[in-house]
Amino acid sequence: MSQLLNAIANRWAAVQRKKYLSKSNRFIQQYLQENGILDIIKHVDEVSGSTGVNYEDYVSLHSYIRKHQPRYILECGTGKSTWVIAHAVKKNFEETGIKATIVSMEDKKPWYDEAIQNLPQEYKPFVEIVFSPAVLYCYSMFRGTAYASIPDHPYDLIFVDGPDPEFEENGVRFDTLNMDLIRYVQQASKPVTAIVDYRLKTVIAYSLIFGKSKTNFLKPWNVGILENITKNDLNIERKDFETLISQVKISSHFAFANPSWI
Ligand SMILES: C[S@@+](CC[C@H](N)C(=O)[O-])C[C@H]1O[C@@H](n2cnc3c(N)ncnc32)[C@H](O)[C@@H]1O
Repeated sequence: MSQLLNAIANRWAAVQRKKYLSKSNRFIQQYLQENGILDIIKHVDEVSGSTGVNYEDYVSLHSYIRKHQPRYILECGTGKSTWVIAHAVKKNFEETGIKATIVSMEDKKPWYDEAIQNLPQEYKPFVEIVFSPAVLYCYSMFRGTAYASIPDHPYDLIFVDGPDPEFEENGVRFDTLNMDLIRYVQQASKPVTAIVDYRLKTVIAYSLIFGKSKTNFLKPWNVGILENITKNDLNIERKDFETLISQVKISSHFAFANPSWI
Protein backbone atom coordinates (compact mmCIF):
# COMPACT_ATOMS: atom_id res chain seq x y z
CA MET A 1 0.00 0.00 0.00
CA SER A 2 2.75 2.48 0.99
CA GLN A 3 4.60 1.58 -2.22
CA LEU A 4 1.52 2.50 -4.23
CA LEU A 5 1.18 5.81 -2.35
CA ASN A 6 4.85 6.55 -2.99
CA ALA A 7 4.46 5.82 -6.68
CA ILE A 8 1.41 8.15 -6.88
CA ALA A 9 3.28 10.88 -4.98
CA ASN A 10 6.32 10.55 -7.29
CA ARG A 11 4.12 10.66 -10.39
CA TRP A 12 2.30 13.74 -9.05
CA ALA A 13 5.64 15.46 -8.31
CA ALA A 14 6.90 14.64 -11.83
CA VAL A 15 3.75 16.12 -13.43
CA GLN A 16 4.05 19.27 -11.28
CA ARG A 17 7.74 19.58 -12.14
CA LYS A 18 7.01 19.32 -15.86
CA LYS A 19 4.22 21.90 -15.60
CA TYR A 20 6.50 24.23 -13.67
CA LEU A 21 9.35 23.85 -16.17
CA SER A 22 7.21 24.63 -19.19
CA LYS A 23 5.62 27.66 -17.43
CA SER A 24 9.04 28.87 -16.42
CA ASN A 25 10.51 28.38 -19.90
CA ARG A 26 7.60 30.36 -21.34
CA PHE A 27 8.33 33.15 -18.87
CA ILE A 28 12.01 33.22 -19.90
CA GLN A 29 11.18 33.37 -23.62
CA GLN A 30 8.58 36.08 -23.04
CA TYR A 31 10.91 38.15 -20.87
CA LEU A 32 13.69 38.00 -23.46
CA GLN A 33 11.34 39.17 -26.17
CA GLU A 34 9.43 41.85 -24.27
CA ASN A 35 12.60 43.49 -22.97
CA GLY A 36 14.48 43.50 -26.25
CA ILE A 37 17.19 41.19 -24.89
CA LEU A 38 17.20 38.99 -28.00
CA ASP A 39 18.01 42.08 -30.07
CA ILE A 40 20.87 43.01 -27.74
CA ILE A 41 22.31 39.49 -27.99
CA LYS A 42 21.96 39.55 -31.78
CA HIS A 43 23.83 42.86 -31.86
CA VAL A 44 26.65 41.75 -29.53
CA ASP A 45 26.96 38.44 -31.43
CA GLU A 46 27.83 40.43 -34.54
CA VAL A 47 30.87 42.05 -32.90
CA SER A 48 32.00 39.75 -30.09
CA GLY A 49 33.28 36.19 -29.94
CA SER A 50 32.76 36.09 -26.18
CA THR A 51 31.05 32.94 -24.94
CA GLY A 52 28.04 34.73 -23.48
CA VAL A 53 25.85 33.04 -20.88
CA ASN A 54 22.59 31.08 -20.85
CA TYR A 55 19.39 32.93 -21.66
CA GLU A 56 18.34 32.22 -18.09
CA ASP A 57 21.33 34.20 -16.77
CA TYR A 58 20.41 37.20 -18.90
CA VAL A 59 16.84 37.08 -17.60
CA SER A 60 17.91 36.61 -13.96
CA LEU A 61 20.28 39.56 -14.15
CA HIS A 62 18.05 41.90 -16.12
CA SER A 63 14.91 41.22 -14.05
CA TYR A 64 16.81 41.52 -10.75
CA ILE A 65 18.29 44.88 -11.76
CA ARG A 66 14.95 46.18 -13.02
CA LYS A 67 13.19 45.16 -9.80
CA HIS A 68 15.76 45.91 -7.12
CA GLN A 69 17.61 48.80 -8.78
CA PRO A 70 21.06 48.04 -7.31
CA ARG A 71 23.40 51.08 -7.20
CA TYR A 72 26.70 49.19 -7.49
CA ILE A 73 27.00 46.07 -9.59
CA LEU A 74 30.13 43.93 -9.84
CA GLU A 75 30.36 41.68 -12.86
CA CYS A 76 33.06 39.02 -12.69
CA GLY A 77 33.66 38.11 -16.35
CA THR A 78 33.06 40.75 -19.03
CA GLY A 79 31.21 39.87 -22.22
CA LYS A 80 27.73 39.70 -23.64
CA SER A 81 26.18 39.83 -20.19
CA THR A 82 27.79 43.28 -19.72
CA TRP A 83 25.53 44.66 -22.44
CA VAL A 84 22.42 43.09 -20.92
CA ILE A 85 23.26 44.40 -17.45
CA ALA A 86 23.96 47.86 -18.90
CA HIS A 87 20.64 47.81 -20.75
CA ALA A 88 18.74 47.21 -17.48
CA VAL A 89 20.74 49.90 -15.66
CA LYS A 90 20.12 52.40 -18.48
CA LYS A 91 16.37 51.73 -18.39
CA ASN A 92 16.35 52.27 -14.61
CA PHE A 93 18.22 55.55 -15.12
CA GLU A 94 15.76 56.74 -17.77
CA GLU A 95 12.86 56.06 -15.40
CA THR A 96 14.29 57.26 -12.08
CA GLY A 97 17.23 59.55 -12.88
CA ILE A 98 19.32 57.44 -10.48
CA LYS A 99 22.54 56.27 -12.06
CA ALA A 100 24.02 52.93 -11.09
CA THR A 101 27.64 51.89 -11.61
CA ILE A 102 28.65 48.61 -13.21
CA VAL A 103 32.21 47.45 -12.62
CA SER A 104 32.98 44.66 -15.07
CA MET A 105 36.15 42.66 -14.36
CA GLU A 106 38.18 40.89 -17.05
CA ASP A 107 41.37 38.89 -16.50
CA LYS A 108 42.31 38.17 -20.13
CA LYS A 109 43.82 41.10 -22.02
CA PRO A 110 42.47 40.16 -25.51
CA TRP A 111 38.92 39.86 -24.14
CA TYR A 112 39.36 43.12 -22.23
CA ASP A 113 40.50 44.92 -25.41
CA GLU A 114 37.62 43.43 -27.35
CA ALA A 115 35.08 44.48 -24.72
CA ILE A 116 36.43 48.05 -24.51
CA GLN A 117 36.37 48.37 -28.27
CA ASN A 118 32.83 47.04 -28.72
CA LEU A 119 30.88 48.51 -25.82
CA PRO A 120 28.16 50.71 -27.38
CA GLN A 121 28.34 54.42 -26.66
CA GLU A 122 24.91 54.36 -24.98
CA TYR A 123 26.22 52.02 -22.23
CA LYS A 124 29.54 53.76 -21.60
CA PRO A 125 28.24 56.17 -18.90
CA PHE A 126 27.26 53.18 -16.76
CA VAL A 127 30.10 50.69 -17.25
CA GLU A 128 33.69 50.63 -16.07
CA ILE A 129 35.54 47.68 -17.62
CA VAL A 130 38.56 46.81 -15.50
CA PHE A 131 41.48 44.59 -16.48
CA SER A 132 42.92 42.60 -13.59
CA PRO A 133 44.75 39.26 -13.75
CA ALA A 134 43.48 36.31 -11.76
CA VAL A 135 45.33 35.37 -8.57
CA LEU A 136 44.94 32.58 -6.05
CA TYR A 137 42.80 33.33 -3.03
CA CYS A 138 42.20 31.08 -0.03
CA TYR A 139 39.47 31.13 2.55
CA SER A 140 39.42 28.45 5.25
CA MET A 141 39.79 25.16 3.34
CA PHE A 142 38.67 26.66 0.03
CA ARG A 143 41.07 27.73 -2.67
CA GLY A 144 40.31 29.36 -5.98
CA THR A 145 40.83 32.31 -8.26
CA ALA A 146 39.92 35.97 -7.77
CA TYR A 147 40.80 39.19 -9.59
CA ALA A 148 43.99 40.74 -8.25
CA SER A 149 42.30 44.05 -7.60
CA ILE A 150 38.67 45.15 -7.72
CA PRO A 151 37.55 48.80 -7.40
CA ASP A 152 36.32 49.50 -3.92
CA HIS A 153 32.53 50.11 -3.90
CA PRO A 154 29.64 49.01 -1.68
CA TYR A 155 28.33 46.45 -4.19
CA ASP A 156 24.66 45.45 -4.05
CA LEU A 157 24.82 42.77 -6.74
CA ILE A 158 27.65 40.49 -7.85
CA PHE A 159 27.45 38.35 -10.98
CA VAL A 160 29.91 35.46 -10.77
CA ASP A 161 31.03 34.32 -14.24
CA GLY A 162 34.83 34.66 -13.97
CA PRO A 163 37.76 34.77 -13.62
CA ASP A 164 38.87 31.54 -15.24
CA PRO A 165 38.66 29.06 -12.34
CA GLU A 166 41.63 27.11 -13.72
CA PHE A 167 45.11 27.73 -12.47
CA GLU A 168 48.41 25.98 -13.00
CA GLU A 169 50.74 24.81 -10.29
CA ASN A 170 53.95 22.85 -10.92
CA GLY A 171 52.80 22.17 -14.47
CA VAL A 172 49.45 20.73 -13.33
CA ARG A 173 46.19 22.51 -14.14
CA PHE A 174 43.47 22.62 -11.49
CA ASP A 175 39.83 23.49 -12.04
CA THR A 176 38.75 25.26 -8.89
CA LEU A 177 36.42 27.91 -7.44
CA ASN A 178 35.53 31.57 -7.94
CA MET A 179 36.53 33.36 -4.74
CA ASP A 180 35.62 37.02 -5.38
CA LEU A 181 32.24 36.79 -3.66
CA ILE A 182 33.79 35.31 -0.52
CA ARG A 183 36.60 37.85 -0.44
CA TYR A 184 34.13 40.69 -0.95
CA VAL A 185 31.71 39.49 1.76
CA GLN A 186 34.55 39.14 4.27
CA GLN A 187 34.96 42.90 4.35
CA ALA A 188 31.52 44.16 3.22
CA SER A 189 29.57 46.41 5.53
CA LYS A 190 26.17 45.74 3.97
CA PRO A 191 24.33 42.77 2.47
CA VAL A 192 25.03 41.75 -1.11
CA THR A 193 23.17 39.48 -3.52
CA ALA A 194 24.99 37.12 -5.86
CA ILE A 195 23.88 35.51 -9.10
CA VAL A 196 26.18 32.68 -10.11
CA ASP A 197 26.46 31.31 -13.64
CA TYR A 198 26.32 27.51 -13.99
CA ARG A 199 29.43 26.85 -11.88
CA LEU A 200 28.58 23.84 -9.79
CA LYS A 201 31.81 23.53 -7.79
CA THR A 202 31.56 27.16 -6.82
CA VAL A 203 27.90 26.79 -5.80
CA ILE A 204 28.76 23.72 -3.69
CA ALA A 205 31.54 25.66 -1.96
CA TYR A 206 29.16 28.57 -1.31
CA SER A 207 26.61 26.20 0.19
CA LEU A 208 29.25 24.88 2.59
CA ILE A 209 30.37 28.39 3.48
CA PHE A 210 27.07 30.31 3.59
CA GLY A 211 24.77 27.39 4.38
CA LYS A 212 21.93 25.71 2.55
CA SER A 213 19.34 28.26 3.69
CA LYS A 214 21.24 31.05 1.89
CA THR A 215 22.39 29.14 -1.20
CA ASN A 216 19.83 28.33 -3.88
CA PHE A 217 20.38 26.49 -7.11
CA LEU A 218 17.35 26.86 -9.32
CA LYS A 219 15.98 24.76 -12.14
CA PRO A 220 15.37 25.41 -14.99
CA TRP A 221 17.44 28.55 -14.59
CA ASN A 222 20.70 26.76 -13.81
CA VAL A 223 21.82 29.67 -11.69
CA GLY A 224 23.02 29.88 -8.12
CA ILE A 225 21.39 32.68 -6.14
CA LEU A 226 22.44 33.96 -2.72
CA GLU A 227 20.32 36.87 -1.53
CA ASN A 228 21.38 39.46 1.01
CA ILE A 229 24.42 37.72 2.40
CA THR A 230 26.68 39.34 4.98
CA LYS A 231 29.84 38.37 6.79
CA ASN A 232 27.63 36.89 9.53
CA ASP A 233 26.69 34.20 7.03
CA LEU A 234 30.32 33.07 6.72
CA ASN A 235 29.67 29.99 8.84
CA ILE A 236 32.94 28.22 8.30
CA GLU A 237 34.98 31.21 9.37
CA ARG A 238 33.05 31.47 12.62
CA LYS A 239 33.98 27.84 13.26
CA ASP A 240 30.64 27.29 14.92
CA PHE A 241 30.95 23.65 16.00
CA GLU A 242 27.28 22.84 15.42
CA THR A 243 27.41 24.20 11.87
CA LEU A 244 30.55 22.27 11.05
CA ILE A 245 29.35 19.02 12.56
CA SER A 246 26.08 19.30 10.64
CA GLN A 247 28.08 19.55 7.41
CA VAL A 248 30.00 16.43 8.41
CA LYS A 249 26.69 14.68 9.09
CA ILE A 250 25.40 15.59 5.64
CA SER A 251 28.48 14.63 3.70
CA SER A 252 29.84 11.58 5.50
CA HIS A 253 28.48 8.32 6.84
CA PHE A 254 28.09 9.76 10.31
CA ALA A 255 27.72 6.99 12.87
CA PHE A 256 28.11 6.29 16.56
CA ALA A 257 30.27 3.27 15.92
CA ASN A 258 33.76 1.82 16.09
CA PRO A 259 36.01 1.72 13.01
CA SER A 260 35.18 -1.36 10.94
CA TRP A 261 38.45 -3.12 11.91
CA ILE A 262 37.84 -2.88 15.65
C1 LIG B 1 32.17 32.54 -19.37
S1 LIG B 1 33.18 33.79 -20.00
C2 LIG B 1 32.41 35.33 -19.61
C3 LIG B 1 31.22 35.53 -20.26
C4 LIG B 1 30.57 36.86 -20.08
N1 LIG B 1 29.93 37.01 -18.79
C5 LIG B 1 29.60 36.93 -21.21
O1 LIG B 1 28.40 37.02 -20.99
O2 LIG B 1 30.08 36.82 -22.36
C6 LIG B 1 34.39 33.85 -18.74
C7 LIG B 1 35.71 34.33 -19.23
O3 LIG B 1 36.15 33.52 -20.31
C8 LIG B 1 36.92 34.30 -21.22
N2 LIG B 1 36.27 34.18 -22.53
C9 LIG B 1 35.30 34.92 -23.05
N3 LIG B 1 34.94 34.47 -24.25
C10 LIG B 1 35.73 33.41 -24.49
C11 LIG B 1 35.86 32.52 -25.61
N4 LIG B 1 35.11 32.63 -26.69
N5 LIG B 1 36.78 31.54 -25.50
C12 LIG B 1 37.57 31.41 -24.43
N6 LIG B 1 37.49 32.24 -23.35
C13 LIG B 1 36.59 33.22 -23.39
C14 LIG B 1 36.95 35.72 -20.68
O4 LIG B 1 38.14 35.87 -19.95
C15 LIG B 1 35.73 35.73 -19.76
O5 LIG B 1 35.83 36.65 -18.71
